[in-house]
Amino acid sequence: MTVGADKNNLLEVEDLAVRFYTLRGTVHALEDVSFKLGQGESVGLVGETGCGKSLTARAILRIVSPPGKIIRGNIRFEDKQLLELSEREIRQIRGNQISMIMQEPKMSLNPSMRVGKQVAETLMIHDKSLGKRGAYAQAVDMLNAVSIPDPKHMAKRYPHELSGGMAQRIMIAMMLVTRPKLLIADEPTSALDVTIQAQIIDLINNLIDDIGSSVLMISHDLGVVAETCDRVIVMYAGSVAESGLVRDVMENPQHPYTQGLLRTLPDAIDPGQPLYSIKGTVPNLMDEPLGCRFAPRCPQATDRCSSQKPPVYDVGPGHQVACFLHEATSPVAGTSVGVQL
Ligand SMILES: Nc1ncnc2c1ncn2[C@@H]1O[C@H](COP(=O)(O)OP(=O)(O)OP(=O)(O)O)[C@@H](O)[C@H]1O
Ligand SMILES: [Mg+2]
Repeated sequence: MTVGADKNNLLEVEDLAVRFYTLRGTVHALEDVSFKLGQGESVGLVGETGCGKSLTARAILRIVSPPGKIIRGNIRFEDKQLLELSEREIRQIRGNQISMIMQEPKMSLNPSMRVGKQVAETLMIHDKSLGKRGAYAQAVDMLNAVSIPDPKHMAKRYPHELSGGMAQRIMIAMMLVTRPKLLIADEPTSALDVTIQAQIIDLINNLIDDIGSSVLMISHDLGVVAETCDRVIVMYAGSVAESGLVRDVMENPQHPYTQGLLRTLPDAIDPGQPLYSIKGTVPNLMDEPLGCRFAPRCPQATDRCSSQKPPVYDVGPGHQVACFLHEATSPVAGTSVGVQL
């Protein structure tokens, strides 16, 4: 386990802030997002819709498009500061050392190209010495490796002829041909039905075990993360509320938001009882984030929570929480100042 072992961290995100400058005003979409991801570790990023999970992934890959802008922060990947690289340098990392599996596989595939050829082309970009034939044969092998039945035949199909689960398997094959050091899986199963979801998660896990990649698994479903990840980062309205080992966070959640989120899990509810939901709605991200963004919905908030931003406290080994409730008992975690961009 790599918690706290800085030299083993593959990725370190520090004080990341992203804003959207729209005609209606400035959207403070990410504020002070900091987390680490160790070599070979799988980390889940969870939170309600709109809390900034995909945006965090897009910022790492530097594909935040206007009117969005990364205004502050550091993103270190191995020995490189990603926000300081030229466009040409970041392109060499994107899709090569860091790959991303998207929520909607069919949107990411080229609709007018047979899938075998698409995988073969990705292989050829990655390995310039491969000829067309060799790449195609390898592509068929890859389809086999992601458990596509009758891969020779399926390689000749177009994306619209595939089911969602098959298309996601093709995407996974394409992402993994480059043997990325970091795989970002953005809700890779949310468009699929439940039985296929489990198969795809198993597939990703088996393949990354073989390759030794680290994984950032984005999901709104804490259950998926609990089953597949070593650590979890809980986001709320563009900030990190809590992070720690899955076991610690699930068994001993420290942030009132995480506690609420866990109560919403169907498993936490007795049969016959109504489903629990956290009262209130997510804040308007156009408002300047003064205090804790969860304060208006928090059952334990005090006056200070609405005006002062809580620091991050160390509440256990590798377990951190941004909440004043821990002020008296826990030390403030190391703070750092992000670079203004
Ligand atoms: N083009 C845009 N203009 C203005 N705000 C935007 C734009 N794109 C994203 N945002 C803001 O960024 C926030 C974070 O969006 P993001 O897609 O990262 O959420 P998410 O956590 O991935 O949600 P989901 O679970 O629905 O995928 C949104 O709530 C929105 O306020
Ligand atoms: Mg998303």
